[in-house]
Amino acid sequence: MARTDPMARTDPDPADDPYAAFDPMEQFQGVAGDLRDPYPAFWEKRDRTPVEHTAWGAYVVYPYELVSQVLRDHTTFCSGSIRELMSVVMGPYPLVGMDEPEHRRLRSLVAQAFRAKTLAHWDAELVLPVVDEMIDRFAHRGRAELVREFTYRYPVQVIAEILGLPRSDHPFFHPRALAVTNVAARPEEGIAASRELRDYFAGIVAERRRRPGADLISELTQATLAGERLGDEEIFSFLRLLLPAGAETTYRATGNFLYGLLTHPDQLAALRADRSLMPQAVEEAIRWETPLLITSRQATRDVTLAGVEIPAGADVVPNLGSANHDPTRWERPDEFDIFREPRPHLAFGAGPHMCLGMHLARMEMATAVGRLLDRCPNLRPDPRRWEADDPHIHGERFRAPTSLPVVFDPA
Ligand code: HEM
Repeated sequence: MARTDPMARTDPDPADDPYAAFDPMEQFQGVAGDLRDPYPAFWEKRDRTPVEHTAWGAYVVYPYELVSQVLRDHTTFCSGSIRELMSVVMGPYPLVGMDEPEHRRLRSLVAQAFRAKTLAHWDAELVLPVVDEMIDRFAHRGRAELVREFTYRYPVQVIAEILGLPRSDHPFFHPRALAVTNVAARPEEGIAASRELRDYFAGIVAERRRRPGADLISELTQATLAGERLGDEEIFSFLRLLLPAGAETTYRATGNFLYGLLTHPDQLAALRADRSLMPQAVEEAIRWETPLLITSRQATRDVTLAGVEIPAGADVVPNLGSANHDPTRWERPDEFDIFREPRPHLAFGAGPHMCLGMHLARMEMATAVGRLLDRCPNLRPDPRRWEADDPHIHGERFRAPTSLPVVFDPA
């Protein structure tokens, strides 16, 4: 398929109007309920109904050990329900919704583009410049709203860079990437954007097959396993999955991290003074406010879990947020504490579908927050707007702060 000329398009660059891009998701969160703190309810669930048969027929799993068991046992708990939901926007091969052995083959191929060597190159060459460019827009001002001006926007831009999309295509790519990410809030827009992105990627993939470069799409066209390569539709599905999987989660996680720091000034000061704390601070932020609170599985057979009988075909909901606040594993689990000893958590899942982009996500968060601390000295909540806006982390399925109004010493 011929590539459409992106220069002929008239879409506004969302960078010019960050609110336009942010609003649909924000409204969707409003519809889904402004749930501030789901964690107290999880204490009771873990104790009384560790596997809860809900009124809508699903089985929600709360304790760490059981959630981990469900995620690892992919033969008993398959990903059919995710596949059904995602195929509409992701096409026929949504990695996260596939089961073995097809999943393993596809994952082995796409994972080749996420090597450690590539990550180091992405950090210095792609993530840092994107982050700096965003900070350039407000560093002189001495104040900013970090959700709308920073956290919501930089991960999509990073993905565009990683894919090696020409700068001139960004005005086409950005609104559609955001529409795919916002598909739950606005299905028609999301589905239309997904179709347009598929056609757009078709042109790019054909070009990279002819003239491979150093970008992720070229890596995907070159990856081989036992002499086999990825088909075009497999690549298109994977590229569209990267938007919600890679951009939305990282936007949420970075916002939650900043919220934790801004509301705990002693920890913010400690991190500012000692950057070697960064890796454990990132890990604690992702554990404390898990961006994706729940995921989904389907029982492939009748199974008994913690004494509860689950029939074949039933929806099973591993609650990652509850697992990450299990007091049998963490002391004072509901507190944000960057000084705690890091322990493996389940924010990135576990088992065969464990997040493919987790190292990239950690690196993006560390670079984004590290550069903010470097370039916005004395970064702190804006006292006037903090009181008026009442920023807080909210969401029943996905968690992110409503806003992050800050002040700092201008550059
Ligand atoms: C803090 C940010 C992130 C969080 C919390 C997160 C969380 C998760 C979780 C929980 C899963 C497993 C879902 C399941 O088993 O049902 C997953 C899978 C996945 N994630 Fe992430 N993710 C993040 C960032 C990223 C990034 C930056 C990328 C890539 C650019 C990415 C790509 C993927 C992919 C491709 C999968 C599917 C893997 C498979 O099915 O084999 N994620 N992620």
